[in-house]
Amino acid sequence: MRIYKMKNYEEMSRKAAIIIAAQLTLKPDSVLGLATGSTPVGAYRRLAEMHAEGGLDFSRAATINLDEYRGLAPDDRQSYRYFMQVNLFDHINIGGGRTNVPNGLAEDAAKECHRYDGVIASFGGIDMQLLGIGQNGHIGFNEPGTAFKKDTHCVDLTESTIEANRRFFGPGEDVPKQAYTMGIGSIMGARRILLLVSGREKAGIIRESLLGPITPAVPASVLQLHGDVILVGDEPALSLI
Ligand code: GLP
Repeated sequence: MRIYKMKNYEEMSRKAAIIIAAQLTLKPDSVLGLATGSTPVGAYRRLAEMHAEGGLDFSRAATINLDEYRGLAPDDRQSYRYFMQVNLFDHINIGGGRTNVPNGLAEDAAKECHRYDGVIASFGGIDMQLLGIGQNGHIGFNEPGTAFKKDTHCVDLTESTIEANRRFFGPGEDVPKQAYTMGIGSIMGARRILLLVSGREKAGIIRESLLGPITPAVPASVLQLHGDVILVGDEPALSLI
């Protein structure tokens, strides 16, 4: 694992964008696995700037997002599809047909999971998977449990994740209780993983994930078994490792 300890959120975002841009430059038809949450927003902003100012080219790339809330439409302001459009896709030259997010409105959850695994397979897997980490160690929406789930699945979100994500919702708005997420198998199948972590409140879980036992109780701990992980964090998040 390569670890970059950056001064603050801005520096972390800049470094992450440079690494993603390098990936795209070396392999313009890269399949990028993307994440939502507040952590990657700065990196997405920087990538959009690199596209506008330096012509960073996404035209041959494809993207596959980690997860989506079940029950939310693509144009719902709280959906991860909407998040990706607003934070990245609308600002770069990538065709809609080359961006993939699970369909939150699919009627049959099992079919949607199967479809999404087919999407991942049809692109030949993921070249670089961007990841954030939840406060309980979840990656994507792979919540702590008793077994690692390999493929895309529909999860019941834990109370702590529902609470943590409430900050994105308005007063009175319900946070969805279920979500689709790529499985641990697909994440671990990515040829390279770029893990971003920011803030003092993530310091404990990042320590546990990287230095503690490998266990489904801390889903991110499985990353210890991946041969090519780049961790970019800010000083507060990496203060305990
Ligand atoms: C959500 C997403 C995760 C993300 C996590 C952390 O639960 N499904 O992919 O890593 O939140 O979010 P944040 O970066 O806002 O701390």
